[in-house]
Amino acid sequence: MKKESGSGKRCVRFPTGTFYHGDCISGAACYIPDGSVDLIITDPPYGINGDTLHKHYNRDEKFVVDGYVEIPREEYGEFSVQWIREAERVLKPGGSIYIISGYTNLYHILDALRMTTLAEVNHIIWKYSFGVFTRRKFVSSHYHILLYEKPGGKRTFNLESRYGLGEKHGDGRSLNNTDREDVWQINREYKPGRVKNKNELPPELLKKMIQYSSNEGDLVCDFFLGGFSTARVAIGLNRRATGFECSKAMFDTRIRDMGVIEPGSLLPTVREPSIQTRKNQRKAWTDADIRYLTREFRKRRARGETKKVIVAALGDALGRGRWAIEKALKKTANSGEE
Ligand SMILES: C[S@@+](CC[C@H](N)C(=O)[O-])C[C@H]1O[C@@H](n2cnc3c(N)ncnc32)[C@H](O)[C@@H]1O
Repeated sequence: MKKESGSGKRCVRFPTGTFYHGDCISGAACYIPDGSVDLIITDPPYGINGDTLHKHYNRDEKFVVDGYVEIPREEYGEFSVQWIREAERVLKPGGSIYIISGYTNLYHILDALRMTTLAEVNHIIWKYSFGVFTRRKFVSSHYHILLYEKPGGKRTFNLESRYGLGEKHGDGRSLNNTDREDVWQINREYKPGRVKNKNELPPELLKKMIQYSSNEGDLVCDFFLGGFSTARVAIGLNRRATGFECSKAMFDTRIRDMGVIEPGSLLPTVREPSIQTRKNQRKAWTDADIRYLTREFRKRRARGETKKVIVAALGDALGRGRWAIEKALKKTANSGEE
């Protein structure tokens, strides 16, 4: 572990990543080059006077690490503009950013994003357990996760990183589709008696974002490290990690673990998707195949077969997936060949 200090900040380097104690806005400006980061996953402070957060949660606060630095509500808008501008700068073209936000200051985050070139990909709802305790209103049990991309490059989206396109639930629905719906139900970790940061993100949530939106060896950055959960999961999945935490107490407590995380140690815990590659997947269509497709489709339709059955049969016959068959049928219908 190599320690350095400069501009009033402390920087700790490991082979798997470099971590900075200090403010992320000035820190990124000073240390992170333009277009150098593949993926940002970050959970900014909430701007809701964080020190009262504990009143809403049913847990023993003596295990929560002190030193969470909150942003005054009236400064939240300008703070969001500044860190999101830095995030935009450090992302590679085609890089992705996930921002986890509650609803109170979501509008500031959305406004700040609109001031950049970053483009919306998804607005995800994360539904979790242990909702905020209430008696006279509904129980708040979700966060917003905004997925944006930096234009100008091909965005990584590992379609079959968790479930193959052909994998099905018992009732025939696609497991891949279900996993890619934009409402995620992932429970927070219940860690009785163990040290935790306020609002630590669950590893399952982080795994999902990292698997879909980065590859092994990529650099994952978290502007607000907190308990370093993003960095821990990123290194566990054999990515490199970097980021900032301005609370000295938090940084000093968590940095000790970072050097001992084995790169790739979480890979054996990741589900192996079953991926079937079709014989002609991604190959150009021949005229003969197009003629076969239109002829067979017409013939089977005339026999009263459903479109779903025909598409599956034609996929098998032509060595292509359902989407490819549907796309080709649409194209031939539009060109009047069908
Ligand atoms: C919501 S927490 C992050 C939790 C983290 N994702 C985890 O799973 O543990 C936000 C963190 O940002 C830190 N923070 C606040 N302002 C900051 C700033 N300007 N630069 C860097 N860190 C900051 C807070 O101290 C807090 O630990």
